[in-house]
Amino acid sequence: MSTSRRRKIEEEFIEAKNNWDLEKLYVDLASAKGKALTPVEKKFLRGLLCGFSPAEIASKVYKTRSSSTVRVYLSNGLYKYIEEMLSRQAPDFIKVKNWSRVTQLLEKAGYKKVWLQIESGTLNTTFSKTKAQEIANNKSTPMQDWGEAVDTSIFYGRKKELTQVEKWILQEKVRLVVLLGMGGIGKTTFSVRLAELLKDNFDFIVWRSLRFAASPEVIFEQILEVISPESFTKGQSISRSISQLVSCLRSTRSLIILDHVDSILYSNSNIEVQEYTEVLSAKTSAIANSNINVNNLNVPSIQYLPGYEAFGELIQRLGESQHQSCLLLTSREKPQEIAALEGNTLPVRSLKLTGLNQLQTKEILELKGFATVNLEESQQIMQRYAGNPLFIKLAATAIHELFAGKIDEFLQQETVVFGGIRSCLDEQFNRLSVVEKQIMYLLAINGDFDLKKLQKNLMLRVSQRLTLEAVELLQRRSLLETDESSFSLTPVLKEYLIEKLIEENLKFSRDEAGSLLFAHTIFEKQLKNHLKVSRLNTEL
Ligand SMILES: Nc1ncnc2c1ncn2[C@@H]1O[C@H](COP(=O)(O)OP(=O)(O)OP(=O)(O)O)[C@@H](O)[C@H]1O
Ligand SMILES: [Mg+2]
Repeated sequence: MSTSRRRKIEEEFIEAKNNWDLEKLYVDLASAKGKALTPVEKKFLRGLLCGFSPAEIASKVYKTRSSSTVRVYLSNGLYKYIEEMLSRQAPDFIKVKNWSRVTQLLEKAGYKKVWLQIESGTLNTTFSKTKAQEIANNKSTPMQDWGEAVDTSIFYGRKKELTQVEKWILQEKVRLVVLLGMGGIGKTTFSVRLAELLKDNFDFIVWRSLRFAASPEVIFEQILEVISPESFTKGQSISRSISQLVSCLRSTRSLIILDHVDSILYSNSNIEVQEYTEVLSAKTSAIANSNINVNNLNVPSIQYLPGYEAFGELIQRLGESQHQSCLLLTSREKPQEIAALEGNTLPVRSLKLTGLNQLQTKEILELKGFATVNLEESQQIMQRYAGNPLFIKLAATAIHELFAGKIDEFLQQETVVFGGIRSCLDEQFNRLSVVEKQIMYLLAINGDFDLKKLQKNLMLRVSQRLTLEAVELLQRRSLLETDESSFSLTPVLKEYLIEKLIEENLKFSRDEAGSLLFAHTIFEKQLKNHLKVSRLNTEL
């Protein structure tokens, strides 16, 4: 093999070395195999460690959709060496059943570059205390606990935002930062990347996900176990834990990251979804006769789920009091306290993450195995999905699976929102109150609106105060695009809402006399035409 070809192979999937102890892995696997791994075996291993499936490796490396060669190569070689290597280290025989197990098994065996690994909710006190003490004794090593932090070896763009937040935290000593944005926009990934960037500036770093709504007791205990193991007593009261945390964050320089705070937030709407559907489906006269007292409508506020209020208290205290640490939150919705505490010159700030640009969209598509993505295609995908990296990835998978990898064919058809993209948007839409939903539908059909126009066009006659509160809430939920005083929606949200309107109308038509089905067809056609024109305008 020529030197340049060998070098090219060695560079493929090299990002794996950021998070994995590759050298040790190569040595241990060579010992299990009985001789050194070949460059191709090393390349496939790195590909798996970057999170790619055999199909994605095949598509990226060999530009082919068939993954059978890679699969056979892996099963007959690498998987066997991994099994042998792990079985030598543990008494049980470990079987690599499929590619997705490889990273888990190797991480468990300690080949991933993390300092401490404590599973949420299953804290092993002895282990973490001993380890904590050991690292704390070595003053030059910052103590870091990344919990279940995601791998960020593939990360595009966001330089401006990273520099901005870095400046807030290091130079302006901001003590509470909230990263906001729609589902899939990249908050979690950004938070991990930021922590990696800042890690040398802190004595302690703790990253925790609230995705599965771990209780405040568990999370506070885990943080204290890392930053002050000697002061923590098991079973102590939650208020004592909060006070201890605040005091520890004063005496040490720590970075605490709580991801997915929206999982412990909710907004209480005083009207049932079913009632709302009735309002939506009914004609204006029926609304007037409906038994919904619109004057009683309330726009809910964003609150903590019962049992999770202690998080709010901690956030409030860390935002208000003097300390040398930083609490970084990621959330789809802005918690109540932040709105009150934040300001451009205050030590509490929030940053709304927006979509990636065309170039970064192109990079994601290439990463997903599209060898030649032209500028126009990546531009259109970026626009349709408002640069949402999760949606772009999901669309890329669908293009491979349903359109034989042909981006132009995917772009020609009309459906933009499907599968995982729809579930992600459903999660956010289902949390809205009646008035918020109405505003969203209005914006989907009419494009931009200012407050006055919104108020005039709402089907439900609600007070100006309610409209104002609802718009403010939608902004806090990262669902509105704001341009000076007017509001609009991203194309993907627009498409989602129009689809929903069509479905809701069909439901209504089915319940009514047959003639209304005809009305539904017209309704659907009109909305779809409208969507086409609006899409064309955006693309132009
Ligand atoms: N800058 C980036 N470059 C490349 N990929 C990215 C980037 N940011 C995020 N991604 C990818 O997009 C997907 C969604 O990212 P992430 O989970 O961080 O979103 P999120 O905003 O935290 O979503 P949620 O609100 O659902 O928690 C992930 O697969 C991630 O790897
Ligand atoms: Mg997230």
